Amino acid sequence: MLKGKRIAVIGTGYVGLVSGACFAYLGHRVIGLDVDTNKIERLKRGEVPIYEPGLDRILKKAIEDGNIEFTTDYSYAVKNADYIFIAVGTPSREDGSADLSYVESAYRSIAEFIDGDDFKVIVNKSTVPVGTGRWAKEFIAGLLREKGVKEPEKRFEVVSNPEFLREGKAVEDFMNPDRVVVGADNREVAGLVASLYEPLQPPILITDLPTAEMIKYASNAFLATKISFINEIANVCEKLGADVTVVARGMGLDHRISPHFLRAGCGFGGSCFPKDVKALIHTAKSVGEEPRLLESVIEVNERQKLRPVEKLLKHIPDLEGRTVAVWGLAFKPETDDMREAPSIPIIRELLARGATVKAYDPVAVENARRVFEKELHTHPQRLIFTSDMYSALEGADALILVTEWPQFKEVDFDKLRGKVVIDGRNLWNPTLMRKYCTYESIGRS
Ligand code: UGA
Repeated sequence: MLKGKRIAVIGTGYVGLVSGACFAYLGHRVIGLDVDTNKIERLKRGEVPIYEPGLDRILKKAIEDGNIEFTTDYSYAVKNADYIFIAVGTPSREDGSADLSYVESAYRSIAEFIDGDDFKVIVNKSTVPVGTGRWAKEFIAGLLREKGVKEPEKRFEVVSNPEFLREGKAVEDFMNPDRVVVGADNREVAGLVASLYEPLQPPILITDLPTAEMIKYASNAFLATKISFINEIANVCEKLGADVTVVARGMGLDHRISPHFLRAGCGFGGSCFPKDVKALIHTAKSVGEEPRLLESVIEVNERQKLRPVEKLLKHIPDLEGRTVAVWGLAFKPETDDMREAPSIPIIRELLARGATVKAYDPVAVENARRVFEKELHTHPQRLIFTSDMYSALEGADALILVTEWPQFKEVDFDKLRGKVVIDGRNLWNPTLMRKYCTYESIGRS
């Protein structure tokens, strides 16, 4: 029987909420904290404020078992937890560096409620630049010293425990981790954090603080590199009559390469890859390195996002007065997250070229309306969100598929008859599609 540990999770975004709910599901006693009162009120009512498959079931079970509660009260969370996980956002600043203001503010609030006889394990789950953990130790010790706590370094330890959760598969990834990485200067405390995952029996890697922080960045940067690599290969394949999907399959059979993250398409988006690669570039430059490969990963990706529009222009050179349907707005299927989604530059480019855009996504329309607030104001007649996929096609000259939601796969091909279809995710079979429409995809000539 697992002896549940007392855990607080600061931040109830997808990382914090999934981690908290899963820890509670495993039998730990979890307090979820957020400064957003509205979010906490919804969570208290059992409502899940984000779209994450499987999360509602896990959360419901955790609530029924009495293993999770929610609060906005730092004092309560800090006093009633031995492990305090920080899972707040670290957005990109203008120069690509990570904005640590939410993390810093969490440290301040935690320090406020650490007393002279406490020992708290403060765990960074947020992706923070390499070096943040060691800096945090000094920062928090300084705050404790200021309020008169004696020997402040004995009252807490900072641990890095990066997350490797994919949005849309976050619960599955938490429950079946490829590895759990724990970095700390104190190995015993690192072992305690690793033991929280014991029921999952994951491979565990214990490291020092900066190494754990770097593993997170290097992993995301490597996956992003694979994507930009295959996209570049795809663009060359097109010109030479090769098929990138088969090329990727052939490469992936080599276990040193692996078949994953070799799907060519219209680029990567999301809250992690673009932000983390940019932050790593910034960190590398700050220590005098020239991270050329990483810079190219971003550059290739920015160009790739507009590739579908370039392909469309080959068939319809003047988009003024034409109508283009866009299927899929979220940065990938199974999420309503619009951050850095390729649909954003694509739609902006179509509008700039005078087209009317009819866009559909199964879950992301509400978020998309916020992203395109300005465009909806400037071109109210030219940007239309539809409530089903086929309404978007009505009167459209062309269709661009940006996000490969499974339901698009089973399309009624007759509805595409006569249109120009640009498949940005290689979802459909080219031979079949060409019977119905003018069809182009990525890396398949
Ligand atoms: C990514 C990582 O996969 C997680 O391991 C990590 O924990 C997370 O970032 C994070 O740092 O929090 P996520 O951004 O949710 O997860 O999404 P992915 O499934 O990795 O996809 C990212 C983007 O790459 C999507 O736009 C997707 O369409 C694109 N992609 C992915 C491709 O274009 N080709 C591929 O072969 C795979």
